[in-house]
Amino acid sequence: MATYSVGVLIGSLSSQSINRLLARALMRLAPPELSFCEVAFKDLPLYSADHEANFPPAAQALKDALAAVDAVLFVTPEYNRSIPGGLKNAIDWASRPSGRNSFARKPSAVIGTSPGAIGTAVAQQHLRSLLSFCNSPQMNAPEAYIQFKPGLIEEDGRVTVESTETFLRRYMAEFHAHVARVLTVLPRGA
Ligand code: FNR
Repeated sequence: MATYSVGVLIGSLSSQSINRLLARALMRLAPPELSFCEVAFKDLPLYSADHEANFPPAAQALKDALAAVDAVLFVTPEYNRSIPGGLKNAIDWASRPSGRNSFARKPSAVIGTSPGAIGTAVAQQHLRSLLSFCNSPQMNAPEAYIQFKPGLIEEDGRVTVESTETFLRRYMAEFHAHVARVLTVLPRGA
């Protein structure tokens, strides 16, 4: 059985993050062929080209973490109809230096939750645009815009609404299929 490692980027830095709960749920519901680790970015300085010649340790750690995984899963809030600045900063760092963009050829998927009715749809469209530019083969479908209601996901990642649980399980099965397809055509380490 081929297995794939997935780096999870959670767009929120909040200790009470509902997107962190969603990430926990997704990891619980994923097929056994996928393993997960969080790719943290909260200690990154703000990106500046001045630092590129000598990457700060936190930025190098981010690049190393991304190099070590087969795929990336973005679980992000929507801030002012886009992705949070911290996540954008991490993507900017990881995309540098020129010619060594960490997302190139790396399969990805985006998902997010918000109390709002459109469940991070606009932020996800922005993120999809960034990932296209970064040449990451991203999963097109299913899309997943999760409206968060209190109690939807428990602290340990258990989903309390059966239809949502079923949907998220299918989302992760499709993500596994996407990763397997991409890495068949673009083998790891090639
Ligand atoms: C928000 N929130 C929000 N929600 C939304 O659906 N669309 C939006 O554009 C925004 N904009 C926004 C900006 C800022 C600066 C904050 C702090 C919040 C509300 C947001 O969905 C809510 O705070 C979620 O709980 C954020 O997700 P995490 O951090 O709990 O994972």
